Amino acid sequence: MSAQLIDGNALSRQLRHEVTERVIALKARGVTPGLAVVLVGDNPASQVYVRNKVKACEDTGMHSILERYTADLSEAELLKRVEALNNDPAIHGILVQLPLPAHIDAQKVIEAIAPSKDVDGFHIASAGALMTGMPGFWPCTPYGCMKMLASIGYSLKGKHAVVIGRSNIVGKPMALMLLQQNATVTICHSGTKDLKAMTLQADVIVAAVGKRNVLTADMVKPGAVVIDVGMNRNDEGKLCGDVDFEGVKAVASHITPVPGGVGPMTITMLMVNTLESAERSA
Ligand code: GUN
Repeated sequence: MSAQLIDGNALSRQLRHEVTERVIALKARGVTPGLAVVLVGDNPASQVYVRNKVKACEDTGMHSILERYTADLSEAELLKRVEALNNDPAIHGILVQLPLPAHIDAQKVIEAIAPSKDVDGFHIASAGALMTGMPGFWPCTPYGCMKMLASIGYSLKGKHAVVIGRSNIVGKPMALMLLQQNATVTICHSGTKDLKAMTLQADVIVAAVGKRNVLTADMVKPGAVVIDVGMNRNDEGKLCGDVDFEGVKAVASHITPVPGGVGPMTITMLMVNTLESAERSA
């Protein structure tokens, strides 16, 4: 058996097409969704990410601004910029690209973003809303994973989902989203004693560690659905995930590839969140 691929590029295209249609409808009502992306410093990966975010706005008909600052920008100045964007009616989403330089308290900056414009879903108000099932923005990467599961018509009710990784950006919100869909959820992490014993019980596995080969074929129950959030480089410098793709593909029923899996979904869900923020304001 070879697993069916869940194609993040194809699903992204479809969702971005739907976003584009809704942007047209919103513009007809006099509102153009607007995203502000703030980049501090010259982290090369961040430069690529923010470029892709701005391009996705252009492609879907949204307004975007990219504010770039040198790494010596003070925390106070950044907080002032966030406040100005909070008060800018043309901006419906604010994204401060992480990581920030060490002299800036990233959490303090995130908490300065108005929750109504927190399209990254990193504010504690957004985290609290997710935890309690209230309306709020969901972090884009786990939200994208949920869309991928929905795209194969997978019902999580009563299933055992194992999330590997407990970051605030992926692992923890992922677990809450799976729980909200009535899965039984286990969160595994670096302190987990017998990871294989856990993953072998799983109907769904989400790997979000940031390390190659965290999940190998012998750790996967036949027919399980495997979502790979990892973005790593192998010895040849090729992009790879956390999952031993070739091995696990032979055991799983569905699997997301890297690249072309979860990656494109993250920016797509940022577009969805920004659009929904604008729709709420209209
Ligand atoms: N850095 C890496 N991923 C992200 C993300 O999704 N949002 C922000 N703001 N920074 C990031």
